[in-house]
Amino acid sequence: MIFLMLILCVASGVRSKTVQIENVQSLILVTINEPASSFEACNKDLLEKATFADMIEIKRGGYFHWCVFVRDETVIHLHNPEFGKLSVENAYHNFTGNVELRNLIQLAGDDLCRINNKVSESKRRKLPALPESDTLALMKEELNRKVTYYNVVNYNCEHFAAKLKFGVPFSSQIDALKKISSEENLTENLVEMFEVAATLDFVHNTSSENSPEILSAVG
Ligand SMILES: *[C@@H]1O[C@H](CO)[C@@H](O)[C@H](O)[C@H]1NC(C)=O
Ligand SMILES: *[C@@H]1O[C@H](CO)[C@@H](O)[C@H](O)[C@H]1NC(C)=O
Ligand SMILES: *[C@@H]1O[C@H](CO)[C@@H](O)[C@H](O)[C@H]1NC(C)=O
Repeated sequence: MIFLMLILCVASGVRSKTVQIENVQSLILVTINEPASSFEACNKDLLEKATFADMIEIKRGGYFHWCVFVRDETVIHLHNPEFGKLSVENAYHNFTGNVELRNLIQLAGDDLCRINNKVSESKRRKLPALPESDTLALMKEELNRKVTYYNVVNYNCEHFAAKLKFGVPFSSQIDALKKISSEENLTENLVEMFEVAATLDFVHNTSSENSPEILSAVG
C-alpha cells in the first residue's frame, strides 16, 4: 500500500512538473502574441513554403528553438554544446557557442515547427527585416567566426536568428519570461524551461555539416 502511494506520488510529481513547464511555455506564447501560422510537422511540405532568410521556430520540450532558413533543407543556428549543463548558478554564464548549418528535418526531430518572421514584433520594435543580401553577408560572417558565445539570457539561439533577420539580436521568449517571472524565480523558470530539453538526444548531437558552399549557391 505504502509502495503504491509512493509510486503515485512520484508519478504525480512528474506530471505536475510537466504541466508547470507547459504552462510557462503557453504563458510565453500568450505574452508574445505573435499571430504567426500554427505549428506543424517539420517535413518537406514545410520546407517547400520556406524561402531564404525565413525564421523558423521549433517547439521543443519547454522552450522554442530558433534557426534561419538557407535553402533546400538547410538552416543556420546557434547551438550551445553544453546545453545540458544549464543550472540556476550558471544561468548568466557565457558558454562557447557553435554557429552551424544543419538539416532542418534532423534538427527538428519529432518537434513541431513553423515559419515565424516575427512580423508584429518587428513592427513593435521598429526593426524592419534586413535586405536578403545583408542577411547573407551576416550568415557568412558568423560561419567564418572562429569563436562565438552562447548566453541563454543575453545571447541565445533566438537572439542569433533575430540578428541575422533584423540586424539586432533580441529574444521574445526571454522578454516574455522576464514579464511572467519575479526577479527571484526568473532563473528557476529558465532552467525549468530548458530542463526537459537537456535530457533529449538532440542536445548531445553536435554533429553539423558546415559547408559554406551552400551559402555561395544562394547569392
Ligand atoms: C559575455 O560575452 C559578451 C560578448 O563578448 C560580453 O559582452 C559579456 O559581458 C559577457 N558576459 C559574461 C557574463 O561574461
Ligand atoms: C514564478 O513564476 C511563475 C511563472 O511560472 C509565476 O506565475 C509566479 O507568479 C512566480 N512566483 C513568484 C513567487 O514570483
Ligand atoms: C546527429 O545529426 C546528424 C546530422 O544532423 C545525423 O546525421 C545523425 O543521424 C544524428 N545522430 C543521432 C544519434 O541522432
